[in-house]
Amino acid sequence: MPINHLNQTWILETSTTAYALGINTDGLLAHSYWGCLLPRLEDYPPPPVREKWASFNNAAHLTPEEYPIPHGMKFTQPGIMVRFADGVRDLRVRFDSFEEQKGATPELSMHFQEEHYPVRLNLHYRLYETEDLIERWVSITNFGDDPIELQRILSTSWNFPSGDRYRLSHLTGKWNDEMHLHRELLTPGIKVLESRRLTTSHHHNPWFAIDEGNASEAQGRVWFGTLVWSGNWKIEAEVTDFDSTRVHIGLNDWDFAWQLKKGETFTTPPALAGFTTDGFGAASRKFHNHIRDHLIPHGNTPHQVLYNSWEATSFNVNETSQTELAEIAANIGVELFVVDDGWFHGRNDDRAGLGDWWPDEKKFPNGLTPLIKKVNDLGMDFGLWIEPEMVNPDSELYRSHPDWVIHFPNRPRSESRNQLILNLARTAVRDYLFTVIDNLLTTNDIRFIKWDMNRNVSEPGWPDAPGDPREIWVRYVEGLYDLWGKLRNKHPQVIWQSCSGGGGRADLGILRFADQIWVSDNTDATARLSIQEGFSQVFPAITMESWVTDVGKDLLPLEFRFHVSMCGALGIGAHLAHWSEDEQKEAAKHIADYKKIRQIIQFGDQYRLLPTKNDGLTAIQYLSKDKYEGLLFVFRTFLPDPINPQRVFPRGLNQNAIYKMDVEPKPRSGKAWMETGLQFDLENFQSSMRYFHKIN
Ligand code: GLA
Repeated sequence: MPINHLNQTWILETSTTAYALGINTDGLLAHSYWGCLLPRLEDYPPPPVREKWASFNNAAHLTPEEYPIPHGMKFTQPGIMVRFADGVRDLRVRFDSFEEQKGATPELSMHFQEEHYPVRLNLHYRLYETEDLIERWVSITNFGDDPIELQRILSTSWNFPSGDRYRLSHLTGKWNDEMHLHRELLTPGIKVLESRRLTTSHHHNPWFAIDEGNASEAQGRVWFGTLVWSGNWKIEAEVTDFDSTRVHIGLNDWDFAWQLKKGETFTTPPALAGFTTDGFGAASRKFHNHIRDHLIPHGNTPHQVLYNSWEATSFNVNETSQTELAEIAANIGVELFVVDDGWFHGRNDDRAGLGDWWPDEKKFPNGLTPLIKKVNDLGMDFGLWIEPEMVNPDSELYRSHPDWVIHFPNRPRSESRNQLILNLARTAVRDYLFTVIDNLLTTNDIRFIKWDMNRNVSEPGWPDAPGDPREIWVRYVEGLYDLWGKLRNKHPQVIWQSCSGGGGRADLGILRFADQIWVSDNTDATARLSIQEGFSQVFPAITMESWVTDVGKDLLPLEFRFHVSMCGALGIGAHLAHWSEDEQKEAAKHIADYKKIRQIIQFGDQYRLLPTKNDGLTAIQYLSKDKYEGLLFVFRTFLPDPINPQRVFPRGLNQNAIYKMDVEPKPRSGKAWMETGLQFDLENFQSSMRYFHKIN
């Protein structure tokens, strides 16, 4: 049974894990277990009860609460903070009832009632049994007449078995340099990761993994989680003074406030997490499966090989320049031709045009139709770049609606890349954007949209806000989802890409709307190896758009650049007209190869065999779900000679099946390949891709 109820305890079971909680004798909802599935329900520990310790802490301070409620002498991080209309800033809730919902993704809701005020707090749990994932969120309803101010409301606290030996893994970076994996031991205190930027993820991704300091890619106990949200967020990894380790995750409480009026409910974004005994690789694969099966809108459709003209023609977009590129792209096997920035009204550089989403009259005197027709006649679909949330002061939109941007009165509006942010919390802004983008999609045969967002917020003001202007942090993101959702519903055939100057908006929230993510503006293939590896901690290859460009071409062979991009959803971003015939021929061969194997990459299981930090040799494996066929990619960056290259040990093969591996003369059993491995003799900056398949 996925959800079991025994006295005042609840045991949530997925295919290999279990999560237990219960009301302890102090009336607190305490966490009691998260780990492997145990044989009998009686095996799970009861909810812990702690004694108060000296006169300085109450018992709750020592209790691993499912959702820490701030009252009394408790000094650990709270899940929620409120202020009632009479000024009281204390919350006392009592367990009231629970509800269970059966179905494909069973749910449990625990209801708590405030002791004095007419307020109900609900903790929600949803199970994804096959992927061993639990989703948690919180909602709060105000049944009283007076508004309540929410000052902090996280989605969840995840508790780990008592002890202080935990290691935190997280992803950090910056624009052009995203997704670097860090691992560090947690010590008493609080480690904070967060975003205050309105977007999620150039600098930190809202993802964590916790292990006991000894997990590897292939083994070890790992708890991992993320927030399904695309705005400000916060992770607090807390080790308390009593060696209790918790990760709190949710909306950032920095500059956050929400007026909860009579009869209203506030619901947090969901936090998703899981547990595995099979190391960081298995943790990633569980998220990969979830994202493919439950989040991305076209999860079963292979992604097309695309061409994007940004690095080739920049803002110099017109019918002639794009047709020249499109002809070569079609010749080498590209399936989707994407025109990037520079096509719309008044856009000749980054100083003007954002907001005016119709074709520039000089560049496209007859609109986009003639170009789209040419692209279609060449056998490709057509895609387009937009940046809907932005406006240049030099645009018709801004001249008509200067009040639509996020700003404070009496303060300068700081521009970045000469642009300001439209306040998507405002209905009029969303209505305008819906009309203009809907029109673009209705009057043109567009199959792909790259949705960009090229700056972070400053002066986060919302004059005339109907409630507390600090609600902008949440209402903006809700507005974004609302707009994107309406466009998706109206144009379901369109595939969307999420971009924010590269990986600034790489999160599970946006993957309910976008099928792919532009991971980084850095397209140097060697840099990309580690950026892509960081990305793969959370996201599956199908969501990872990766272009072969001209960056680093004097050092890096075309094959190396292709192999790196073939590890995701392959794209080309080079100036094709500058490629020699030989280069075009070689590209055509790689693209044809990719089409044969993309099924394995986009829908199979990924194994990071040799991580990038591994002294210049990186190895990645993809294996089809039925373990019938797979691929090994091996990259050598710079390693001074002489070297004795490490062997590469495949993983996950069917032990007794016999596999034939490209180039290797003798077929061998899966077990034999996995135990003895393979040696790759590569020169510096050489790479290799090997296909293998079962022969019995
Ligand atoms: C951002 C994107 C790029 C490109 C430019 C266009 O930087 O990440 O890929 O689309 O904008 O202005």
